[in-house]
Amino acid sequence: MPQHGTTEERSLAHWAEEGRAGMEAFYALALEDYRQMVAARDWAADLRGHARGGRVRVLDVACGSGKFPAELVRRGLAEAVDGLRVEVDLLDPSRFSIDEAGSVLRPPFVVGGTHEVRIQDLPGDVGGFDAAWATHALYAVPPAEIGAAMARMHAALRPGGFGAVVHATTGSHYLRFAEAFRATFAPDAVPFTSAAQVTDALVAAGAVPSTTTIRYRVGHPDREVVEGFLQRCVFDDSVPLDRMESEGAVGEYLAGCRADGRYGFDQEVDVIVWEVAA
Ligand SMILES: C[S@@+](CC[C@H](N)C(=O)[O-])C[C@H]1O[C@@H](n2cnc3c(N)ncnc32)[C@H](O)[C@@H]1O
Repeated sequence: MPQHGTTEERSLAHWAEEGRAGMEAFYALALEDYRQMVAARDWAADLRGHARGGRVRVLDVACGSGKFPAELVRRGLAEAVDGLRVEVDLLDPSRFSIDEAGSVLRPPFVVGGTHEVRIQDLPGDVGGFDAAWATHALYAVPPAEIGAAMARMHAALRPGGFGAVVHATTGSHYLRFAEAFRATFAPDAVPFTSAAQVTDALVAAGAVPSTTTIRYRVGHPDREVVEGFLQRCVFDDSVPLDRMESEGAVGEYLAGCRADGRYGFDQEVDVIVWEVAA
């Protein structure tokens, strides 16, 4: 697995078949992200409220392996939308991710289309969606490009459409660990984009977002799983856990996440939603 290149290039290298083991270790802890965000609001009401003619067309931006729609289904979305057809277009620059997400979709979801492209590069003739969401999806979009990315996502919605971005703040494990890792082991890495940068970009694009912040802790007793999780957090599996624990800002950060030999990581995540003027 290549450890060099921009954050975006390393993300793409990990969202591939060779990265499957790392992805599985990551989700041993990160599945909690999806439980928390699904519990954070009434997504079925969002879908029902933006449907037309018995269907709602959704753009899933950076669909990854489809954990968000899978958790919605697990929590009873089909019953809650009561016969509504939820047609989802899967967008991701990784073909592996699009195939993974497509393979887990269950009713009420059906695949409407696929777009193997970065959100910044989505062709201008793709649009008119009733809803678009990006859930823990935009960290690898370079801060310098988040403006273009959010403008494109916003423009892909129809008048009256609904947008949602779920994204960690600078106070969360994801951003704090990435920053400490960059300072200690990867000074040339492009920083992760934060929730505040996403919000600013949406405002610059003409959206009027409103935000709810959720906080929770994730953890695991098995060091090997924690190591895989941490490596995947930064798309870099070159540094083993015992080295992370003993060096620089990463060592200090990890010391604060350990109690009685067990790791717990505090997450702080913004659920950012907006509606396009009708
Ligand atoms: C953590 S996953 C997203 C999880 C997903 N929302 C879910 O429900 O499982 C991140 C995804 O972002 C994709 N990605 C990276 N850069 C991107 C970009 N510029 N535009 C769109 N997707 C991107 C990656 O290929 C990866 O599949």
